[in-house]
Amino acid sequence: MPTDYALVNQKLRALGDAVRAGLLQRQEILAYARDLTGRHFQGTLQAQALERKYGYSGDFEIIDAIYQQQITHKPDLRLWDLYFHAQAAPIAVRNRKSYFLRLLDQHHSMPRKGPMQVLDVASGPARDLREWLLDHPAADVRFDCVDADVHAIEHARRLCAPFIERIEFHHRNAMRFLPSRGYDLVWSAGLFDYLMDRSFVFLLKSLLAVTRPGGEVVVGNFSPFNPSRDYMELLGDWVLTHRVDKQLIELAREAGAAPGAISVQWEPAGVNLFLHIRRQA
Ligand SMILES: C[S@@+](CC[C@H](N)C(=O)[O-])C[C@H]1O[C@@H](n2cnc3c(N)ncnc32)[C@H](O)[C@@H]1O
Repeated sequence: MPTDYALVNQKLRALGDAVRAGLLQRQEILAYARDLTGRHFQGTLQAQALERKYGYSGDFEIIDAIYQQQITHKPDLRLWDLYFHAQAAPIAVRNRKSYFLRLLDQHHSMPRKGPMQVLDVASGPARDLREWLLDHPAADVRFDCVDADVHAIEHARRLCAPFIERIEFHHRNAMRFLPSRGYDLVWSAGLFDYLMDRSFVFLLKSLLAVTRPGGEVVVGNFSPFNPSRDYMELLGDWVLTHRVDKQLIELAREAGAAPGAISVQWEPAGVNLFLHIRRQA
């Protein structure tokens, strides 16, 4: 029950502290979490996270389940999924979808000749695109989406079927290929916090290279102010590279961004940061 959340969070924090102090190994706790989850929590999002059905954490299915606040149909486990959705990280993931929708609104309202060109890197379920296009059915816009997981691409194509003439999906590894139409907005959420610094800079350089003068690159990254971190790492085996705003700015500069063109913003929970880089007109 919600009245129990504080106690559970406190216990998880104590486990996290024990790992950080070297008193326990994360793998020991995970092994225990896997056994418990396998025996008692099948059908919950926690079980789905641990299962890594597609071979990695944070696949399109779990992200879409977070967006839709999916709850197991098993009555005795519903409360556990409610606890999952009430945590800061899933709230931040839902907030970042709203953040993207607002960003699209802002760019859409700017005067331009021809369609607004958007590149979505690691597009996952593309529920954000579906929602925005449902709200803007007549928008003159062209989306290129890149995702390395063919299942994500298939799912996104189904979700966006009514708008498919305005979206091109590319089943590619973004580190190796990006379409290069010249974009007004380049967006990537849920990818950069899986990358080490070198890959972060490499990919950011590529994103800047395909952005039009006057356009903007916006990249999401979880911040260390993530109260769900212990739950994610210890019970979900979901490990991210958390970064503070200074680190994001430093990496943007390494990628060649001009200091005056960089800013960092965040969604209302303050858990997901967004690195904004404007390409000089
Ligand atoms: C956490 S999901 C984020 C999805 C979407 N951006 C969102 O916020 O709803 C991460 C996605 O990144 C994709 N991905 C991971 N590495 C990738 C890469 N190197 N190139 C392209 N896509 C990648 C995965 O397949 C997955 O669909």
